[in-house]
Amino acid sequence: MQRAAMAAVKKTTKTFKLNTGAAIPAIGLGTWQSAPNEVKDAVQAALAIGYRHIDTAFAYGNEKEVGEGIRASGVPREQIWLTTKLDNPWHKRVPEAIERSLENLGTSYVDLYLMHWPCSTDPNNLKKHLEGWDFVDTWREMQKLLDTGKVRNIGVSNFGIRNLERLLNDPSCKVVPAVNQVELHPGNPSPKLFNYCTSKGIHLSGYSPLGSAGSPLYSNETLNSIAKEKGRTVQQILLAWGIQKGWSVLPKSVNKSRIEANWQLDGWELSEEDIKKIDSIKERFKVCDDAWLPIKVFFGDDE
Ligand SMILES: NC(=O)c1ccc[n+]([C@@H]2O[C@H](COP(=O)([O-])OP(=O)(O)OC[C@H]3O[C@@H](n4cnc5c(N)ncnc54)[C@H](OP(=O)(O)O)[C@@H]3O)[C@@H](O)[C@H]2O)c1
Repeated sequence: MQRAAMAAVKKTTKTFKLNTGAAIPAIGLGTWQSAPNEVKDAVQAALAIGYRHIDTAFAYGNEKEVGEGIRASGVPREQIWLTTKLDNPWHKRVPEAIERSLENLGTSYVDLYLMHWPCSTDPNNLKKHLEGWDFVDTWREMQKLLDTGKVRNIGVSNFGIRNLERLLNDPSCKVVPAVNQVELHPGNPSPKLFNYCTSKGIHLSGYSPLGSAGSPLYSNETLNSIAKEKGRTVQQILLAWGIQKGWSVLPKSVNKSRIEANWQLDGWELSEEDIKKIDSIKERFKVCDDAWLPIKVFFGDDE
């Protein structure tokens, strides 16, 4: 009975319900650092395989190609969950920023518009923070987009508990972010942030779920032994771990066979014991820090 139930588990069609009522697909194709001339094919291949969620950002410089890949796939736009992000130097120009992204993508709306970082950078000096403006002001502007039809859901990215508290407690905050997209893998599991966001009705989306390029997780003994026992790859184990923990995952690849392999997540599950073993991996590392930003945005593992 239990075996039959487990065989029926489908992660590829699984969605998470957001506080807006919308359903975000559990697996999305990441596109950061996908080189020009590779992204269009990657998006097209992913959609042909069955992916229905694409994650991009103005800052990745590839929105145009992502849009081309979507159109080349022939999959109707309304069947695809498309996320893009507001870049730091555009915080004071939210209406112009979304227009640019929509034009690049060749679409009239995005499913999710995220504030990429809680950092309002001065467009005239990328090493400087904007004077008299910060992410609370940016969120006030982003909230207005919901009435324009150009964005279906709004959220944030790279927000720890400290910045979320500031945002949620500000009187101008009328809309609780639907999503917080943050780095999540066994080297940066952020359980406090997950519990905090869950308690506020904010869905977490996990970026760098494989540990990004050159991932140290691929040689991890615990992950390799679970992968061997299950007859799966370490990458599949990492993606299943994220989805079973309760967040959506955004694996990036520009290689068709890896895009396909990352999609082979149906009909099997990690046991509670497997999950506990992965949770107890001790080595910590972060792919994205805040050293390149004019202000600090991370204040410890989860904060
Ligand atoms: N909000 C943010 O600030 C933020 C920050 C970082 C990332 N993100 C989002 O999250 C996405 C994923 O994160 P990420 O790109 O850092 O890293 P990732 O998805 O954890 O890992 C991507 C790397 O793993 C390789 N790879 C993918 N599948 C593989 C497989 N089955 N076997 C072996 N290698 C494999 C890829 O190479 P190939 O392409 O050659 O396959 C690439 O080098 C990004 O693309 C972006 O959309 C958001």
